[in-house]
Amino acid sequence: MNPTILAIETSCDDTSAAVICNGIVKSNCIASQKIHEQYGGVVPELASRSHQQNMVPVVHQALCDAGVAVSDIDAVACTVGPGLLGSLLVGVSFAKGFALAHGCKLIEVNHLHAHVLASFIETGTYKPPKPQFPFMCLLVSGGNTQIILAHDYNRMEILGATIDDAAGEAFDKCAKLMGLPYPGGPHIDRLAQQGNAQAFAFNKPHIAGYDYSFSGFKTSVLYFLQKEIAKNPDFIQENLPDLCASIQHTIVEMLMQKLKKAVQATGVKHLTIGGGVAANSGLRSAIQTFGEKHTIATYLPPPVYTTDNAAMIAVAAHYKFMDKQFGNLNMKPKARYSLEEYFGECANMPI
Ligand code: KG4
Repeated sequence: MNPTILAIETSCDDTSAAVICNGIVKSNCIASQKIHEQYGGVVPELASRSHQQNMVPVVHQALCDAGVAVSDIDAVACTVGPGLLGSLLVGVSFAKGFALAHGCKLIEVNHLHAHVLASFIETGTYKPPKPQFPFMCLLVSGGNTQIILAHDYNRMEILGATIDDAAGEAFDKCAKLMGLPYPGGPHIDRLAQQGNAQAFAFNKPHIAGYDYSFSGFKTSVLYFLQKEIAKNPDFIQENLPDLCASIQHTIVEMLMQKLKKAVQATGVKHLTIGGGVAANSGLRSAIQTFGEKHTIATYLPPPVYTTDNAAMIAVAAHYKFMDKQFGNLNMKPKARYSLEEYFGECANMPI
């Protein structure tokens, strides 16, 4: 069977639809929501409304770009969680309606599962080398920070996760403290290029195992800035590139320290990254340097596939289709949805 699958992603503030035919992504359309910028963060109610407005045009575009008719679709897949409940609800409801109306199969995809498989995205023109199992994935986004060991397409385990803020939140909250627009991660990355990463030192937590914590670091940045601004009200403006470079350097060091430990303990030889923060230039070069030094093959998908997108949902759906793991009309969006729960449920799901 060479399945043709329509995939939908609406977990946060990007409405995306993709079509995959026999494992090759034929289209990937994304409508990003700019409305949240003025509020300094994603406003859930506005996100749901925008998904509702964007959904049909985005799906239509994805089908047109792929040159596929509705009658060609064998299955419709969607992100069921984790994410914003109202946003997920729009995608899940659309997928159920589509499956019911067109008599095709339904596939539920966990957003984290899809991020891990982003390095398997292949299109007509983009055919990168693929990681071999078992491989490690550092998943770093605005809502999640996890170290995941992938044993197979549909079998993965979480070795470590953040106990408080995600890495993207740490970037965004530090950026907000410095008066940078939302989302702040890309702004810090850009300004860091002209700064000195050793200019300022911030607290790094000591957490056991492979887990992360970013809230203490964020507080240390806050207290540091408050102290310096009391002495010089223009401190941030006068030191912005150095502040960004030092903050980025500290976050990347924290991420790399646990990642290196996990890679070395498990002996994996293939390493990939996913999530919005995977676009960070400092993190990408740290992973590449680590791979070169320890002969570990690294796979760094381009940012369009590491941020939220339906192409990665389509790839995960393809491998679930091949394993005959289908959902049904009882599927519900889940704001919280761990990979353990997901892989456990999928194995037992009635068709
Ligand atoms: O995966 P993603 O697109 O959305 C979800 O979290 O679902 O990740 C968004 C996060 C934001 O926190 C944003 O600031 C961060 O990714 N980000 C970056 C960069 N590009 C995006 N952080 C640091 N450096 C970047 N270049």
